Amino acid sequence: MISVRLSFNSSVSGTRRPSRPGYFLSGSLIMCFTACGAAASNPALIVGPNACAECHKQETEAWKTTHHFKTFRDLPRSEEAKKIAEKMGIRRIKSESLCVNCHFTVQQKDDSKEPVAGISCESCHSAGKDWIKVHSGYSGKTAKTETKAEEAARWKLADSNGMIRTRAIYQLAKNCYGCHVVPQEELVNKGGHRAGSAFDLVSWSQGEVRHNTWYSKGKENAAANTTRRRMLYLVGLGVELETSLRAVTKATVRKPYAFFMAQRVDRVRKQLAAAAKAAPNVLEIAKLVEYAHSASLKLNNEKLLTAAADRVSHLLTGLTDKYDGSTMAGLDALIPGPEKYVGRVRQPSAVN
Ligand code: HEC
Ligand code: HEC
Ligand code: HEC
Ligand code: HEC
Repeated sequence: MISVRLSFNSSVSGTRRPSRPGYFLSGSLIMCFTACGAAASNPALIVGPNACAECHKQETEAWKTTHHFKTFRDLPRSEEAKKIAEKMGIRRIKSESLCVNCHFTVQQKDDSKEPVAGISCESCHSAGKDWIKVHSGYSGKTAKTETKAEEAARWKLADSNGMIRTRAIYQLAKNCYGCHVVPQEELVNKGGHRAGSAFDLVSWSQGEVRHNTWYSKGKENAAANTTRRRMLYLVGLGVELETSLRAVTKATVRKPYAFFMAQRVDRVRKQLAAAAKAAPNVLEIAKLVEYAHSASLKLNNEKLLTAAADRVSHLLTGLTDKYDGSTMAGLDALIPGPEKYVGRVRQPSAVN
């Protein structure tokens, strides 16, 4: 049985840089819950960030200031990475898919698959080949001459060709958590890879990752507005729950990975309970709390844990259709403020 006992912390190696606030267990540990693969895209459908940059200049400049961009160059040189790779029996970090799946973007080129960037546009918005032309083409007209009906049809087609747009909060969040909470038991237990941080969707998306510069035409890079932040917060908690429940099913031994994943579920159970209390009008939150407790956190309990995660997934899909955040003011006191945002926000440069 994995009981959630926080005293297990001390048995875990891996220390987070102390500079950042808000990590769970007082920053005493970090791990990457690695299962990367969840977010891995089909290399044959990847167009690479340079193709996006042709039109999206400011978004690309913002991305270039992030850890997501820099990991491409930094990871292979990092001593910590070399140690992990050695323990995992990996010789070349850039060509071994285990690390590549979460740290890089891989594109099919002729006969080979090549890492072309760090975590890039398509790691979050999905592989672009089937939707890049559609989403930007104004139905063969211009922004002015395209009708409303044509615009709606264009976005519908882009969605069905896989594009993950700004409004698709659940899908965006699935990608973040798919890397940041990952079910890779060996990587954590044997490799000593950190098992992730206390990721929350608001503070982690509104700092260095923020690139809300397209619709402002490069004038500003404003944070998501109040109602959207409520949705990001709530859906983020839901996806944390879904992902960490699935991560617990991947635990096979009573070693750090199992405890971390169980702690992760325990932590989000409490956060959801607080949210349910703060916004009792949103009945779905109480349901999430119920699902969160519907399977116990122990080894060999895959069936019940997976069923719970599936219910969470189903509920979240409906939640994002039904709500826009306007009735969730109760959550405001729980949502991390700007002082918690991770990393520096890039303001667009005067010269476009
Ligand atoms: C499941 C996805 C995943 C896989 C697979 C993965 N990583 Fe990571 N890695 C992450 C995430 C996410 C972070 C950032 C953790 C955080 O801060 O929450 C990270 C952080 C790191 C760091 C610390 C970077 C820093 O900023 O100091 C190193 C080093 C690292 N990974 C090495 C590796 C190596 C080597 C491999 C392959 C053996 C690997 N990772 C495989 C997701 C992954
Ligand atoms: C040929 C120019 C062009 C290229 C190349 C391009 N985009 Fe766009 N993108 C646009 C235009 C134009 C819009 C806005 C369309 C509108 O307002 O109806 C847009 C909008 C978007 C949006 C916002 C959608 C929303 O939710 O409203 C995202 C996200 C996006 N693009 C991502 C990408 C990514 C990722 C790539 C590379 C795979 C890419 N774009 C390549 C022109 C382009
Ligand atoms: C780490 C995941 C991630 C990466 C990498 C990423 N995006 Fe985004 N993108 C998002 C999220 C999340 C939003 C919505 C942000 C919000 O709500 O504050 C967004 C929003 C956008 C928008 C809408 C901006 C607006 O003005 O509203 C565009 C356009 C876009 N992204 C294009 C890109 C391009 C081009 C790249 C690569 C250079 C890229 N994104 C890289 C996650 C990502
Ligand atoms: C394909 C895997 C992947 C996806 C998808 C992903 N990340 Fe990351 N993220 C990483 C890795 C790996 C790192 C660590 C990079 C490094 O420092 O070497 C990281 C680092 C970060 C950092 C910097 C943390 C620090 O150490 O300061 C932030 C912030 C972040 N991610 C937010 C997000 C958000 C928000 C999303 C979703 C909108 C997201 N990430 C999606 C893999 C991913």
